[in-house]
Amino acid sequence: MQKSKPEGKLAVLMPGMGAVATTFVAGTELIRKGASAPIGSLTQMGTARIGKRTDGKTVKINELVPLANIDDLVFGGWDVHGEDAEQVALRSGVLTREHVAGAGELLRSVKAKPAVHDPEFVRRLEAKNVCPAKTHAEKVEALRQDIRDYKRDLNATRAVMLFTASTETFHGEKSEATSSLAAFQKAVEANAPGISPTMLYAYAALLEGVPFANGTPNLSVDLPAFQELARERCLPIAGKDLKSGQTMMKTVLAPAFKARLLGVRGWFSTNILGNRDGEVLDDPAAFKSKEITKVGVLDTILQKDQYPELYGNISHKVAIHYYPPRGDEKEGWDNIDITGWLGYPMQIKVNFLCRDSILAAPLCLDLALFMDMAARNEWRGIQEWLSFYFKCPMAAPGLYPEHDLFIQLTKLKNTLRVAAGEAPITHLGLEYYGDDLPIAG
Ligand SMILES: NC(=O)c1ccc[n+]([C@@H]2O[C@H](COP(=O)([O-])OP(=O)(O)OC[C@H]3O[C@@H](n4cnc5c(N)ncnc54)[C@H](O)[C@@H]3O)[C@@H](O)[C@H]2O)c1
Repeated sequence: MQKSKPEGKLAVLMPGMGAVATTFVAGTELIRKGASAPIGSLTQMGTARIGKRTDGKTVKINELVPLANIDDLVFGGWDVHGEDAEQVALRSGVLTREHVAGAGELLRSVKAKPAVHDPEFVRRLEAKNVCPAKTHAEKVEALRQDIRDYKRDLNATRAVMLFTASTETFHGEKSEATSSLAAFQKAVEANAPGISPTMLYAYAALLEGVPFANGTPNLSVDLPAFQELARERCLPIAGKDLKSGQTMMKTVLAPAFKARLLGVRGWFSTNILGNRDGEVLDDPAAFKSKEITKVGVLDTILQKDQYPELYGNISHKVAIHYYPPRGDEKEGWDNIDITGWLGYPMQIKVNFLCRDSILAAPLCLDLALFMDMAARNEWRGIQEWLSFYFKCPMAAPGLYPEHDLFIQLTKLKNTLRVAAGEAPITHLGLEYYGDDLPIAG
């Protein structure tokens, strides 16, 4: 199933050169220099068992499938601020000055190109570095030229686009303009309202033959027009919204309650966050986009229709408060009201003192490498096997997304096994007890 090997440089192009993007770039450079192990990255540290448990064969994921080497990653992006990545990393306050200095040469070379921006979609930013194009069609053309220029200037054989810009305001999930590729093409030509910058970046990327992964809650490739385009151009797409902190914990805990058939009466999740992401999310219209990706998780995991007595009446609240002193060091609290035998109530409290961009950066690294592999393998359309990375994973129309982190991991590893020509692992294990099955358990 593996079609081509990664040869030459891979350009990772990121609309939104903010805290997440610069922490990813700086971290990659520091890891290349040996300053740290690539903690949090499945592609760099993860392993997969091959064959039966008795075979004793476990391989590193980047040995199982041909992934680009992190030494071959080069970076580019777009942003409204006009700073280089070193300036952004210093002001974002995620990394120490020593860490930023350690990656300084690379960071200074990553200069954001002028952004395709629309204040209607991201309101709380001062936009100084904006693409002068006026119409949607001109903006798409400018972005396509930028992609070609980046590939040439970075001497890259391939590119992936990883969308890491600010969360856009919510404008409804469906519109006529995005209902099909033909409708979207017409809407772009007509400069129709309701088309967001995220959609224009995604459109430009796919037209340039570049896979697109969406790390934010913004609507983009999770719309029929883009799914059609990705399939037509034989390109992978994935999204949306990186599953880094509170939702990652939620998709670990909720499956445990369901597995034990413990009831859930309520789940109250709140956060304080003081970075620029928090400032943008302080706009209720932008928070609405985030709320949708954060809230859907429990409904799908707990299947209230199947278990009405346990999960039929959950009160699920999610809040994010912008609190500047905390910077990137987000603090999340979860209070979970559960019920056990005879309906007796219990409570669980989770207090996660995390670092938002530190959790997100390795996910960016993995997504860049996996999306590149998917493109080389000519895997087209939605890459459901990458659900592991997203709060609100994209799935085929009519199919509910898989949110359980461990089912997602199993799906991901089995996809890699199959891509490598190995048997998927079922965890049945009957062959160890005398029944010889052709599949490994
Ligand atoms: N940090 C996490 O753990 C995490 C998890 C999931 C999702 N996200 C999402 O990732 C995104 C980035 O987060 P961050 O902490 O880096 O935020 P950030 O504010 O530091 O970075 C976002 C950058 O996007 C830029 N931007 C805004 N509109 C743009 C446009 N039209 N074109 C190009 N650039 C534009 C901003 O100027 C800013 O520099 C946010 O949408 C956030 O919600 C972050």
